[in-house]
Amino acid sequence: MAEGDQQAKAAMRKHEWAVLMLWDGVTGPSDYAWGRGSDALAETRIFGDAESRGQTNDVLLASEAELRRLGSAAKTLASLPERANLYGLMLATCGDCHQALDVELPVQGMSPPGP
Ligand code: HEC
Repeated sequence: MAEGDQQAKAAMRKHEWAVLMLWDGVTGPSDYAWGRGSDALAETRIFGDAESRGQTNDVLLASEAELRRLGSAAKTLASLPERANLYGLMLATCGDCHQALDVELPVQGMSPPGP
C-alpha cells in the first residue's frame, strides 16, 4: 500500500476517534468528551502530504476544511440541541467526501454483537 494511503488511514482513525468523542459529548452528555472531540475535529488533516494533496481536488479539500470549520464551531456550542445539530452536519460532510471518492467503509458482512 502506498504511503499516502497509510497516512489517509491514520488520519481517518484520528477523526473516527473525534466522531466517537463528539457522540459521547452529545449522548453522555459530557462536556469533556465534546471538548476533546471538537479539538480533534478542528485539526482534521486527511490529505496530509504534498503528494496526496496533488491527487485531490478543490471539492475534497473544501470538504476537509469544512470538518475543521465544524470542529472550531463545535467548541462554541453549549446546548445539547445545537451540539446534536452540528453532529448531523458533520456526518453529512463525511458522506459527501466518501461518495465523491468511492470510499467503501468496511461494513459489509458485519454482524451485531452476540448475546
Ligand atoms: C475530505 C474527504 C473525507 C472526509 C471529509 C471524510 N473522509 Fe473518511 N475517508 C476518506 C478517504 C480518502 C478514505 C479511505 C482511506 C483509506 O484508504 O482507508 C476514508 C475512509 C474512512 C473510513 C474507513 C477507514 C478504514 O479503516 O477502512 C472511515 C471509518 C471513515 N473514513 C470515517 C469518516 C468519518 C466518520 C468522517 C466524518 C467525520 C469522514 N470519514 C470524513 C476521505 C474522507
